[in-house]
Amino acid sequence: MSDLTPHQIVQELDRYIIGQSEAKKSVAIALRNRWRRLNAPDDMRDEIMPNNIIMIGPTGVGKTEIARRLARLAGAPFIKVEATKFTEVGYVGRDVESMIRDLTEFAINMVREEHTQAVQEKALSRAEERILDLLIPPAPKPQSPQTVSTSTNAATSSSPAHKGPSESELRQRTREKFRGKLRDGSLNDREVEIEVASEKSNMLQVFGPMGMEEMGVNLQDLFGNLGGKKSKKRRVPIREARELLTKEEADKLIDMDRVTRDALERVQQTGIVFIDEIDKVCARTGAGKSGPDVSREGVQRDLLPIVEGSGVMTKYGLVKTDHILFIASGAFHVSKPSDLIPELQGRFPIRVELDSLTEDDFVEILTKPQNALLKQYQALLRSEGVEVDFEDDAVREIARMAAHVNQDVENIGARRLHTILTTLLEELLFDIPDVVTDTQVTITRERVENVLSSVIENRDLSRFIL
Ligand SMILES: Nc1ncnc2c1ncn2[C@@H]1O[C@H](COP(=O)(O)OP(=O)(O)OP(=O)(O)O)[C@@H](O)[C@H]1O
Ligand SMILES: [Mg+2]
Repeated sequence: MSDLTPHQIVQELDRYIIGQSEAKKSVAIALRNRWRRLNAPDDMRDEIMPNNIIMIGPTGVGKTEIARRLARLAGAPFIKVEATKFTEVGYVGRDVESMIRDLTEFAINMVREEHTQAVQEKALSRAEERILDLLIPPAPKPQSPQTVSTSTNAATSSSPAHKGPSESELRQRTREKFRGKLRDGSLNDREVEIEVASEKSNMLQVFGPMGMEEMGVNLQDLFGNLGGKKSKKRRVPIREARELLTKEEADKLIDMDRVTRDALERVQQTGIVFIDEIDKVCARTGAGKSGPDVSREGVQRDLLPIVEGSGVMTKYGLVKTDHILFIASGAFHVSKPSDLIPELQGRFPIRVELDSLTEDDFVEILTKPQNALLKQYQALLRSEGVEVDFEDDAVREIARMAAHVNQDVENIGARRLHTILTTLLEELLFDIPDVVTDTQVTITRERVENVLSSVIENRDLSRFIL
């Protein structure tokens, strides 16, 4: 788990997200509190509960983006789920507990990946040995009955009378020569036949009785393992063989029991669940408490025990959710946080509001973040050997238009920039490299105006295009 301080976390988030400092601060504190708790005295540790957060803000202002970036920073098991995907227990669909199972699965993969990294070198050298065995078949069994071992050393000692290099020495020398070639990649394309565990076939879909999924038991896994692991022979280039065999050796080297134990520990102590679109499971107040609304409140009620802390059975064991951090987010256009059932409101004591984005924000969003949209397009076209330059005026104009359309038609936040840019650059993207052969293209303010103003002026048109 990362030990970034709150200020450092905000700094990191600043590299991708413009503005929204309140929200950044809250999540930074929440994240740091996890670390603080883990470093608190044992007897207090269990008492300190995470402070779950609700992020409220219009669409497209960075709620999901903050969560995504936070996840990377946290170095903790993290998943993002949409509240709308769940249905009340008893209805067809996914029940809310499945989010904990997914989180656990994520943690398992994460820990397994780390353990694999740790044994990577060893696995690679074992894979190398196996490939060498394939290239140079092992020595035939020595004649003398007393040497049972076929290892090269034993073979050497069994034939000391030979003059010059013995057969096994020659063998060893060839082996080393091949090892060199193997390492410098000159054998990469040569094919070898290897035996690999056959990948699970997706042809056979087994549907279990309803409710099986609840326990995270996959019938296919059960059946798949019945006859032990099947393996099959395949001819593959050495490049691929090395990868496959390394993976296989790594799997043999890591201790899955320990992986499971570590992963469960990590989920329970540091897991983060981000529940998006929580506002969409508010039952609409007033009329229309029927139809699709029927299971919404049910979903909220199902969420309660999980958020509050309870045990969820997963296929790796029981996961207690007491210390998992929940961050919920929603636009709350139609409904208000107060429309959530009261118990659930209480489970999310921290509320942060995200601000609508302004024209100035748009200018920064277009240019500043590491994944800024303009940088993305520049990178795309650089692959065609074209340098695209956006003049400051042009960027300002794009931002102004985005703000204008947001105000005029509908506020979709920074997503508006995507639609505007695709419209602006469509022609260029289509004409490179066939028609436009320049290696340098400059987007000027005039160009932006020429392409976009007709669309923007016409409200009906912009409703469809932008
Ligand atoms: N403040 C911001 N800084 C930089 N980029 C932003 C910002 N806000 C939004 N974006 C960009 O806009 C897009 C949409 O943002 P995001 O997915 O975070 O919206 P959201 O707030 O979750 O909206 P919704 O309520 O519709 O889910 C993303 O590509 C994101 O990079
Ligand atoms: Mg979102």
